[in-house]
Amino acid sequence: MKVIKVKNYDEVSAEAFKVMKEVVTSKKDAVLGLATGSSPIGLYENMIKDHKENGTSYAQCQSFNLDEYVGIDRNHEQSYWTFMHENLFHGIDLPEDKIHVPYGNTKEDCQAYEKAMENVQVDIQVLGIGGNGHIGFNEPGTPFTEETHIVDLTEKTRSDNARFFENDINKVPTQAITMGIATIMKAKKILLVASGANKADAVAAMVNGPVDPNCPASVLQNHNDVVVIVDEAAAAKL
Ligand code: F6R
Repeated sequence: MKVIKVKNYDEVSAEAFKVMKEVVTSKKDAVLGLATGSSPIGLYENMIKDHKENGTSYAQCQSFNLDEYVGIDRNHEQSYWTFMHENLFHGIDLPEDKIHVPYGNTKEDCQAYEKAMENVQVDIQVLGIGGNGHIGFNEPGTPFTEETHIVDLTEKTRSDNARFFENDINKVPTQAITMGIATIMKAKKILLVASGANKADAVAAMVNGPVDPNCPASVLQNHNDVVVIVDEAAAAKL
């Protein structure tokens, strides 16, 4: 696990972009694993700027998102489908039919998502980390062997995300569909970005703690190509 410490969020985003750009310029048809949340927004802004200014093309790429809420429509303003279109897809030339975001609430929906990924390997998987060490929506205790599955969201994750639902935890969905840890670990390269003091404990447990389902992100110690980019506040307990 390579850990890069920088000063602040903007530097995290700029460093992460360098890693992404290296992948998409060395492989025109790169498969991108993408995340939502506040952590990768700056990375996505850099990708859009670079696409506009330098013409870096995603026309032959495809994308697979980590997760999506259950129980809200794709076109809901807080769906991850909407998030990805507003924060990345609107500004690059990734064809709409190459975009994959998991959807649904049944076992069959989960299997269909795994099947869509069956014949491709994700070249770079972007991840954020939850304050409790979750990756995707794999909450503490999730077995490392899980593939795409439906999860009940913890109180902590729902309250962390209430800010996007009028600060009302009752409006936050109670379930999500997420790539499992086994799915995430199949990616060739993993790029995890974290910033802010509220991530410091999780980052320390991921990097230095035991590899244990209590900190789902600690599994990344077992992957052979992980780049973690953290700002000073998130690195405070390393
Ligand atoms: C998002 C996701 C989550 C977030 C994590 C951090 O698709 O899967 O695991 O990466 O909750 O969220 P932020 O970046 O908002 O702090």
